[in-house]
Amino acid sequence: MKLYDVYPLFDIAIEKGKGCKVWDSNGQEYLDLYGGHAVISIGHCHPHYVEMMTKQLNTLGFYSNSVQNPLQQQLAERLGRACGYEDYFLFLVNSGAEANENAMKLASFYNGRTRILSAEKAFHGRTSLAVEVTNNPKIIAPINNNGHVTYLPLNDLEAWKKEIEKDDVCACIIECIQGVGGIRMVEADFLQGLRKLCDEHNTVLICDEIQCGYGRSGKFFAHQHLGVRPDLITVAKGIGNGFPMSGLIISPKFDAVYGQLGTTFGGNHLACTAALAVLDVIEGEKLVDNAAEVGEYLIGRLKSEALPHVVDVRGRGLMIGIELDVPYKEIRTRLVKEQHCFTGCSGTNVIRLLPPLCITKADADDFVERFKAVL
Ligand SMILES: Cc1ncc(COP(=O)(O)O)c(C=O)c1O
Repeated sequence: MKLYDVYPLFDIAIEKGKGCKVWDSNGQEYLDLYGGHAVISIGHCHPHYVEMMTKQLNTLGFYSNSVQNPLQQQLAERLGRACGYEDYFLFLVNSGAEANENAMKLASFYNGRTRILSAEKAFHGRTSLAVEVTNNPKIIAPINNNGHVTYLPLNDLEAWKKEIEKDDVCACIIECIQGVGGIRMVEADFLQGLRKLCDEHNTVLICDEIQCGYGRSGKFFAHQHLGVRPDLITVAKGIGNGFPMSGLIISPKFDAVYGQLGTTFGGNHLACTAALAVLDVIEGEKLVDNAAEVGEYLIGRLKSEALPHVVDVRGRGLMIGIELDVPYKEIRTRLVKEQHCFTGCSGTNVIRLLPPLCITKADADDFVERFKAVL
């Protein structure tokens, strides 16, 4: 059997990782400003994570959601404290798309409606409704194109207001920093206005924090820069530092109903251990503060260097977009091949930086030098 060929791959196999560095099968070292697509939060192969995961694997890897799992309870308490949502509930699933599916499903159970508002250039995943609220017709199959969604310009409150006032909108789903969309940021006035409109019209406000959350923006959640509390928050990527898991953080205004949501794998023992180890390290090493500090430093350096081809540098914390006046493709490829440095990308001309949250200022300086060398 061959692999189903859907990924345009670099001709590189990564075999080993440590902190912000990875090594390929030839022993070549790379600086990782991509974090495996914003997944690596505490750094590759953190010793505390490895130790906790190994111990758990030697004890119990999995049992189903038909019995008590005290690790889930521990995680809910720890995460509630860490993110400032102690009065909310946690439901654990397995991927970003699945968290968003459950968020929209819960919103629809809540108010009985079926329309969703989503932003232009939004990305929320590749399954059923998650892909329908993703503003990319190329990945929406006919079976997913069910007319639930209206896409609206980011930060254009009047446009969202016009739709919400029809009193038939189930939920608004929004990334406070768009990732795939090219590091486009939601403004505080817009989100605060949206919060008010949602309250007035019984519409559920969902913040997709799958890429911009979990400390990446320099606060635990990107929406916390904007002074708003959403009804539902989805998290994935950094929560498990590579162990596939995700969560839905649920306002107390929702009443849990037995059997309404469920999953086989979600919140299993190994997944919860991964998430607990991640929280230990995020707290112990003050990685949210580090994201704020090193992010500001790196954005500052990129802005002050007057780099050729760079027309804009934007972002918050360690979620940074570098917009170029040329397609990113050659520059990004040369960064990998010649400078041995991984970055992400968006659209046709944005380089996206999503490094592990433990990156140092020295790593940031190192990146700037490698980047200069390929411009
Ligand atoms: C903002 C956002 N939402 C949802 C997803 C989907 O997550 P997953 O690939 O884990 O389903 C992603 C993945 O890149 C994302 O960036």
